[in-house]
Amino acid sequence: MAEDPLAAEKELAARAAVRHVRAGQRLALGTGTTAAHAVRALAERFPSGDVETVASSEATETLARALGLHVRPLAAGDRFDVMLDGADEVTPRLDLTKGGGGALFREKFLARLSDEVVILVDHTKLVPELGTRSAIPVEVVPFARPVVAHLLEARRFGVRLRGASADGRGTRTDNGNEILDLRPPTPVSDPAALERELRAMPGVVDTGLFVGIARRVYVGLPDGTVQEVVRP
Ligand code: A5P
Repeated sequence: MAEDPLAAEKELAARAAVRHVRAGQRLALGTGTTAAHAVRALAERFPSGDVETVASSEATETLARALGLHVRPLAAGDRFDVMLDGADEVTPRLDLTKGGGGALFREKFLARLSDEVVILVDHTKLVPELGTRSAIPVEVVPFARPVVAHLLEARRFGVRLRGASADGRGTRTDNGNEILDLRPPTPVSDPAALERELRAMPGVVDTGLFVGIARRVYVGLPDGTVQEVVRP
């Protein structure tokens, strides 16, 4: 695989966030290349596995276990001190697009159970408005997907089935669903309204819009420093 030109920035952001994690905390772990840097930094900081984690994907769980972290399944009544995760887009208000790695449902589910959601990104993820850098992923029940896709196209979204194969099926998420990647007709000026509109459609399981969820963002910068942004 080609080397990631932004790996250094991602690692800087991840290390900055992990410095604030304390032994004994319960952590929710995100998914993606930046979250993987956080998993590696956690394993380095807590070599005896002194943090308890729940992962948002099979990929993250496999990595965390391989590095010796204590990973367990989600349990009744679970709450997390901190969730560490990446993002595809971050606005100045700290609204996010996520789900480039396909784990948006579990990521948002764990984020809602977390006292603090901390996001780690490289500088290319900063955007003035959502929908300008990345597509907005929507997780959809496969049975309903043709209807949902048609309705979205009628609303002028560009719609692409992620991983579409010759037989017309898309890549399945860890939950057995498919993902539609949406290009909105204009940048998203009101992400909360779009989130409500999308979630109201039968067949939509969740969206990659994370509105008012992130509390703190660490941004790795090209000059080797890290910018910390806290939600206003
Ligand atoms: C995973 O589903 C996503 O939400 C990722 O957090 C997001 O796509 C960022 O991924 P990278 O850290 O790999 O850019």
